[in-house]
Amino acid sequence: MSETRKDTQGSPLPSDELLTVSEMVRRTGVAASALRFYEELELIAAVRTAGNQRRYARHMIRRVSLISVAKRLGIPLSDVQDAFADLPRDATPSQEDWQRASGRWKRTLEERRRGIERLEEELMGCIGCGCLSMKACGLLNPDDALAGGGSGPRRLD
Ligand code: FES
Repeated sequence: MSETRKDTQGSPLPSDELLTVSEMVRRTGVAASALRFYEELELIAAVRTAGNQRRYARHMIRRVSLISVAKRLGIPLSDVQDAFADLPRDATPSQEDWQRASGRWKRTLEERRRGIERLEEELMGCIGCGCLSMKACGLLNPDDALAGGGSGPRRLD
């Protein structure tokens, strides 16, 4: 009877599905150091051979690919961790799993786009102004929430 190996989260892994670190690097284009880092963050998991070498289940390729996509989109790894928390550890994420995860990232990107649009509107006002006032300019003094209420002392009203 052959022994079923388990990943670091205890999920079973058939040994014929395991990839070496160099195979993972070649298949994903991600450096071995990055794979170790993703492992530390529990975004991916590996098993150890008798010689203490790391091996990855084949379905971890998909996870690494999703991490690479998230990086390209500027999605923080903490958001990737949130999205992966609901994904199965012992199988390739399904289409529904991926839709759920990417839906969160879409909302993040939409919020970012709205923020850039707000900045663009402020910049357009500044292009026509040029005052560079620390009191009036929202771009130079973005944390001055009271400035939105008009000029002069706002707390004395
Ligand atoms: S430069 Fe005048 S409001 Fe920004």
